[in-house]
Amino acid sequence: MQLSIDYQELLLAVRNTREIILNKERQKQIKTKGVGDFVTQVDLAVQTYLKDFLEERYPEIQFMGEEKDNGDVDRQKPMWLLDPIDGTSNLIFGLQHSGVSLALYNGEDLQFGVIYDPFKDELFHAIRGEGSYLNGESIWVQQADGLQDCLFYYGTNPYIRKSKRRFMELIGEVTSRCVDIRRMGSAALDLAHVACGRGGGYIEQDLKPWDIAAGIILVEEAGGIITDFHGNRIDPTGKSDTLCGAPAVHEEMLELVAAYDVATR
Ligand code: IPD
Ligand code: CA
Ligand code: CA
Repeated sequence: MQLSIDYQELLLAVRNTREIILNKERQKQIKTKGVGDFVTQVDLAVQTYLKDFLEERYPEIQFMGEEKDNGDVDRQKPMWLLDPIDGTSNLIFGLQHSGVSLALYNGEDLQFGVIYDPFKDELFHAIRGEGSYLNGESIWVQQADGLQDCLFYYGTNPYIRKSKRRFMELIGEVTSRCVDIRRMGSAALDLAHVACGRGGGYIEQDLKPWDIAAGIILVEEAGGIITDFHGNRIDPTGKSDTLCGAPAVHEEMLELVAAYDVATR
């Protein structure tokens, strides 16, 4: 079911969050939600801004956002999925590498995704069947024959400490095979960077729907493969282990992931 959306207006609204995010006073207003889990006034202000915009323009589409209770969201029906700031720790510690991630699920499939890096003013977007773009130019995943050809990105999910040692053993093996590894601190931007060929692949355990929904469509429309750790398609409305990359990199990684037994589900 295709939903009728004014994409240009939507992209503009996402880009408008730049001023909110770069506000240093808001960045300093921090609350702790759990171990390694923070929220700043920036997260809250970006979510309010986009939620208000989307609810006014598309009142029939549900809204799922990280900084709200999503108990009332029906996962079978169309919804927006928003991570207002992906990379909140980076924002708090001044690393200048965080982004906004917004996707549209039409009840059957992801129809649209946008990831915005306000620090570089880079706007990545994808529309199902129409390709992936960075600031309006087509992007593609890296043409890599395997790990040996690429920088490989990974995330150490801060919220699951138990299986981290085993996961880092896997990363040790990856390090010995690839050009080098990168742990950048934003799952959404990691996925966007794979979509445009800066990274040949990316892996992280147990991500939330708003971390990955926009990145899934960006990677797929850029010619990459993205699955859970068993090679299955990800349900974008639920939590998932996430593995993506250029096709040959994804294939090589799937074998390693099975050998190191790091799937959380
Ligand atoms: C986090 C970032 C981080 C990843 C975590 C995410 P947040 O999102 O994407 O890179 O390792 O798993 O939860 O908390 O900054 O929105
Ligand atoms: Ca996130
Ligand atoms: Ca977030």
